[in-house]
Amino acid sequence: MNAAEQAASKRNAGYHAAELVEDGMTIGLGTGSTVFFAMECLGERIERDGLSIVGVPTSYQAAIRARRYGIPLSSLDEHPILDVAIDGADQVDPDLHLIKGRGAALLREKCVCDASRRVFIVVDPAKMVEILSAPVPVEVLPFASVPVSRRLAALGADPNLREGMKKDGPIITDNGNFILDCDFGAIADPGGLEAAITAIPGVLECGLFTACRGKVTVIVGEEKNCLVVSLH
Ligand code: A5P
Repeated sequence: MNAAEQAASKRNAGYHAAELVEDGMTIGLGTGSTVFFAMECLGERIERDGLSIVGVPTSYQAAIRARRYGIPLSSLDEHPILDVAIDGADQVDPDLHLIKGRGAALLREKCVCDASRRVFIVVDPAKMVEILSAPVPVEVLPFASVPVSRRLAALGADPNLREGMKKDGPIITDNGNFILDCDFGAIADPGGLEAAITAIPGVLECGLFTACRGKVTVIVGEEKNCLVVSLH
């Protein structure tokens, strides 16, 4: 798949998800390039049709982009239950387990996912895999990053402190924490691994999303249309 085909796939997935949004809904707004297309479509629907929605962004990036598209914003304080979240993913397996967090927004994304009645995951076909194997991002409290690294290594990972671009040293998340990218190889038990990682003191969250799969609909954008996958 070349870059133009991938962009067309992402756009189709994002637009398909945004077209499923109904008037009056509260929407979790995920982070990343595919969700941008959903926000673009939501902005068009607001301007063209007077669609009335409120978005809860999962990152500074999502908030900045949503404002650009004219999407009114709120918070989980005001809207602790959301109708639907639209978010991207880095890998999706056939049981709809996800790896997320390439953009380091996983902590707020998981809060928004948990707060949402339904979750639309928008991806291009390259994200669909038989078994999850991408490095799992883990958001850690800087104070505890060294002991957490040792605990993650004991679980079989090769943790790497994520470095900034155009910034020396580690990236700092929107929540003031570090990210450890943890290569576990092929992940046989995503739910068990998620539970083991998040049980470590000093871990705020990890990029494995397994508990939400019952309310997830995966929208796989293809060049001309979309494939829609869910367990329900
Ligand atoms: C953000 O931290 C991630 O969880 C993104 O949702 C994920 O990386 C998808 O991004 P793209 O749509 O840009 O691939």
